[in-house]
Amino acid sequence: MIAKVHSAAYLGIEAYAVSIEVDVSHGLPQLNVVGLPDTSIKEARERVRAAIKNSGYSFPADKITVNLAPADIKKEGSSFDLPIALGILAAHEVLPLARLQQYLFLGELALDGSLRAFKGALIIANSLDSTKPFVFPELNAREACLQKNARVYGVNTLREVVEFLQDERELIPVVSDLPKNNSGSACGSMDFADVKGQEVAKRALEIAVAGGHNVLLIGSPGAGKTMLARRIPSILPPLTFEETVELTKIYSAAGHLSEHGTLMTAPPFRSPHYSISPVALAGGGSWPKPGEVSLAHHGILFLDEFPEFRRDAIETLRTPLEDGQITISRAKKHVTYPSIITLVASMNPCPCGYLTDTRRKCRCSLSQIQKYQMKISGPILDRIDLHIEVPALTYQTLKAEDPAESSFSIRERIIACRNRQTERFLKHPFRLNARMGTREIKLFARLSSEGEKLLGSAMKELRLSARAYYKILKLARTIADLEGADCLEAGHIAEAIQYRSLDRQWWH
Ligand SMILES: Nc1ncnc2c1ncn2[C@@H]1O[C@H](COP(=O)(O)OP(=O)(O)OP(=O)(O)O)[C@@H](O)[C@H]1O
Ligand SMILES: [Mg+2]
Ligand SMILES: [Zn+2]
Repeated sequence: MIAKVHSAAYLGIEAYAVSIEVDVSHGLPQLNVVGLPDTSIKEARERVRAAIKNSGYSFPADKITVNLAPADIKKEGSSFDLPIALGILAAHEVLPLARLQQYLFLGELALDGSLRAFKGALIIANSLDSTKPFVFPELNAREACLQKNARVYGVNTLREVVEFLQDERELIPVVSDLPKNNSGSACGSMDFADVKGQEVAKRALEIAVAGGHNVLLIGSPGAGKTMLARRIPSILPPLTFEETVELTKIYSAAGHLSEHGTLMTAPPFRSPHYSISPVALAGGGSWPKPGEVSLAHHGILFLDEFPEFRRDAIETLRTPLEDGQITISRAKKHVTYPSIITLVASMNPCPCGYLTDTRRKCRCSLSQIQKYQMKISGPILDRIDLHIEVPALTYQTLKAEDPAESSFSIRERIIACRNRQTERFLKHPFRLNARMGTREIKLFARLSSEGEKLLGSAMKELRLSARAYYKILKLARTIADLEGADCLEAGHIAEAIQYRSLDRQWWH
C-alpha cells in the first residue's frame, strides 16, 4: 500500500512543496529512502524507526521504500522525520490516509518520539502556495503563525499527531501572541549622550538613519568613530511587522534563529571584523546562505576600519547597495536574499591616520596616501551619500560638563521623519528617501527658488557631477523631512552639500 504525505522544503527564502511517498510491501524487512537525500535523511531512518517503536506503535516488518519528490532538488535537514513516520504508519494502516492528506507536516523526531524544531518554518508558511493547515513542532508553530491567515497546529510528540489523525485528540490552531505593531526598541546601555562634542558627526548619523543613507566616517585615531557608530542601535526606529517577518525569514534561512529567539523584532546592527571573507559578507556556500549584507536587512551594516577589508569582499557590496538585494548563484541554483541596508563605514584618512589632524603631522608620502585611499574603489564610494570628517576632540570639549542630547530624543525625531517617508512612498516598493531613483527625486524633491539658485551655483563652483547632484537632493529631502518641511529650502541644500566633503577635498 502506498501512502502520500504533504511536506515542504525551502531554498533561500522561497519554499517549495515536497511530496513523500511511502510504499510498504512484502519482502525482507528494510527501510530505504530515495530522492536524492543527503546524509541527514539517511540518519532519519534510525530516528524514525526508534521514534515509532518508542511511541508505542509497531514498526512494520516489511520492505519499506520512501521517495521524496521532486527528486531533482537537494533536500537538507532532518525535518522530514515526522512526515516519513506518519507515511509509514498510514501505509501500515495505523492511520486513516484521507485524514493524513489534509495537512502538511514537518518536524525532526527524537528517539523517544518527541518532536524537535527545524529551520525555516516561517519561510514555508510565508512563501508556500498551499491551503493545507500545517502540523509543526510547537516552537515552529509559533514562528509560522506569524504569517497572516496561516493555520498551524503545534505538537510535541509523534503520539499526539497520531492520536489527532485518529480523531482521539483535539488540537487548537496556534495563535500569534505577538503584538502586530511591535514597539521593540533596540536601546541598549550605549547612548549618544556619552559622546562629547562631535555635533556634526551626530547630526550626520541622525540624517543617515532617518533616510537610510550610507555614510563614511573619516578621522584620526581616537577621534571617536567607533564610539559613535556603536551607538547607532540606540536611535534605530522599530521595525514594522512586515519588516520583522522579512528579517526573520532571513535569519531562519541562515539557521540563526535560536540565538535570537523566534522573532527578529529589533532592527539588526551587524559589525563583521575586517578579516571577513567575500562569501561570509555577501552570502554563499554550497547551500547558499545569506551573508552579513542580508543579515543586516532593514538595519545597519557597520564596517569599521573599512580599508582593511579585503578588496574582493568590499566589491561584493556593489550590487546589494544599489539593488537592495543580492543573488547568489551556485551550480544551477540561484537564490536571492533581500539586503536593504544602511552602510556605515569608518576609516582613517591615511595610513598613519593624521592627515586631517591639525595637531599632529602626517608622516605618509603622497603615494602611500593615494594607495590607501584607492582601497575604496570609485563605484563603492559612489554609493555612499554622506562623507563625514570626525575631527579629534579638543581638550576643552572633552572636559566640558554640558550634557549632550540623549539617544531617546534623537530617535523621536527619526521616527517622525520615517513616518513622513512612509506616507510619501505608500505606492512605492520602498520606504526610505535614500532609495529614490531619479524619477522619484524629480517628483518629491522640489526646490524653492532660493534652493534652486544655491544648488545651481554650487554645481558650478564645486564642479559637482550629475551623480553628486542627485545625492544632494536626496539628502536635502531627508533634512527637510526631519524639520517637517515640504519644500527644499536653501538651508537644506547647504547642509546637504556640506556632507559631500569627498567631492571637494583631498580625495583624488
Ligand atoms: N567625543 C568623545 N566623547 C567622549 N569620549 C570620546 C570621544 N571621542 C573619543 N572618546 C574616547 O576615546 C576612545 C577611542 O575612541 P574610538 O575608538 O571611537 O576612536 P576611533 O575614531 O574609532 O579610532 P581608530 O581610528 O583608532 O579606530 C573612546 O573609547 C572614548 O573613550
Ligand atoms: Mg575605531
Ligand atoms: Zn598619514
